Amino acid sequence: MSSCITPPYSRKNPFPGLLRTNRRLTASGSAKDTRHYEVSIAGSGLLYEAGDSLGVFPQNDPLLVEEILARLRFDGHELVSNPSGDMIPMREALLRHYAITEPSKQFLAAIGEKDPAASHFSAWSAPESKEHLETYLWGREVIDPLLEHPEVHFTPEEFVKLLRKLQPRLYSIASSPKMYPEEIHLTVATVAYEALGRQRLGVCSTFLASRVTEDIPVSIFIHSAKHFRLPEDPSRHIIMIGPGTGIAPFRAFLQDRKATGAPGKHWLFFGDQRRDTDFLYREELESMHKEGTLHRLHTAFSRDQQDKIYVQHRMLEEAQELYSWLEEGAYFYVCGDASRMAKDVEHALLKTIELAGGKSPEDAAAYIDAMKKEKRYRKDVY
Ligand SMILES: Cc1cc2nc3c(=O)[nH]c(=O)nc-3n(C[C@H](O)[C@H](O)[C@H](O)COP(=O)(O)OP(=O)(O)OC[C@H]3O[C@@H](n4cnc5c(N)ncnc54)[C@H](O)[C@@H]3O)c2cc1C
Ligand SMILES: NC(=O)c1ccc[n+]([C@@H]2O[C@H](COP(=O)([O-])OP(=O)(O)OC[C@H]3O[C@@H](n4cnc5c(N)ncnc54)[C@H](OP(=O)(O)O)[C@@H]3O)[C@@H](O)[C@H]2O)c1
Repeated sequence: MSSCITPPYSRKNPFPGLLRTNRRLTASGSAKDTRHYEVSIAGSGLLYEAGDSLGVFPQNDPLLVEEILARLRFDGHELVSNPSGDMIPMREALLRHYAITEPSKQFLAAIGEKDPAASHFSAWSAPESKEHLETYLWGREVIDPLLEHPEVHFTPEEFVKLLRKLQPRLYSIASSPKMYPEEIHLTVATVAYEALGRQRLGVCSTFLASRVTEDIPVSIFIHSAKHFRLPEDPSRHIIMIGPGTGIAPFRAFLQDRKATGAPGKHWLFFGDQRRDTDFLYREELESMHKEGTLHRLHTAFSRDQQDKIYVQHRMLEEAQELYSWLEEGAYFYVCGDASRMAKDVEHALLKTIELAGGKSPEDAAAYIDAMKKEKRYRKDVY
């Protein structure tokens, strides 16, 4: 039987965890607000492993809820069904149960039916209109089409039926249970950007950053990531590519390997915008490097010079040594941005193997395929 059974708490029955620490990791002057959180799971019976993620059920921004209520002339006490069919007050439904930032196709189509000036919304439900729909939706939230079509009205129940269910967000766990059995640490970039003249706030990252207090429990669950575990053999070396919040599971890996005194070696490539403001966990990493838990540490601060330097540039500079670790059977891990970083890192890995291993592009690709088959190439990207 696995050691990772977590009854009675689960996604369907989340644990009310208490947020004990909310500390900014990025210094003032940074373009980002990336934070370290510590959630107490004391008494929960929850078990996790380095590599797992934490599911967090967020609540929506109350100011946005009030804006929607005012626009629809609801007082918030109207009884509406929640996604499970129970009747609850409208304000609570919008705070906790429905997604009020991502408009659904059905919601747009309903506006299209009510306002001739928005009739094109109805046509966008068709699969061939995906591009139009995506262009319109970029940077828009539920409030935007409501404000753009001020004559449109809904009954309370009609409105909530057009909203999506509010989904939990996943975060890579940044602690090892071997060091913190009763806590879960996270590394979260707060999402905030401006679009169409309004400030937009990521639901869950801003919920954690500014709406959760020490006495308000957060509904959480463990999302097991069997594909992203440390090697079973503690003597295997690990290479970790973790720019930005991608550092999170590698902090957990290093804590885990330190706790067990694993003889394998550890190499971390970390990158972010600027060394002075964005070197997440700098002191911890430098101290682990000094004491010998982290054998090699390479950093790439993209905006400290005119030309961007990314983790993959550091990999190529270290191609010989990287290849020799791979030849010794090292596991290769990547965590962080899926849209570009993970692909560029794979390309750099290919180049490393070609250059340092003296292989053709085809042989280097076959080398990576073999690593994947042996499960020595592990990704957790988002
Ligand atoms: C397995 C896994 C592990 C993860 N681990 C971590 C982690 O360790 N740390 C972490 O910070 N995140 C992590 N994430 C991402 C996390 O789950 C959330 O997606 C993230 O925090 C954003 O959620 P939110 O609710 O704050 O934002 P949302 O309300 O979901 O808003 C995000 C959306 O806003 C839009 N958006 C964002 N920025 C812009 C912009 N500049 N311009 C236009 N539109 C924009 C995009 O549509 C984006 O999808 C992980 C995801 C997965 C799947
Ligand atoms: N304010 C915000 O709302 C905000 C801010 C940042 C990130 N985000 C989003 O939040 C998520 C997490 O961000 P994060 O803090 O973990 O950091 P991130 O955006 O992934 O950036 C981490 C580092 O990776 C660099 N990078 C960019 N493209 C890369 C590539 N192709 N290959 C390798 N490195 C690359 C970045 O450089 P450069 O940025 O200098 O190119 C930065 O130095 C991302 O999905 C991102 O889109 C939101």
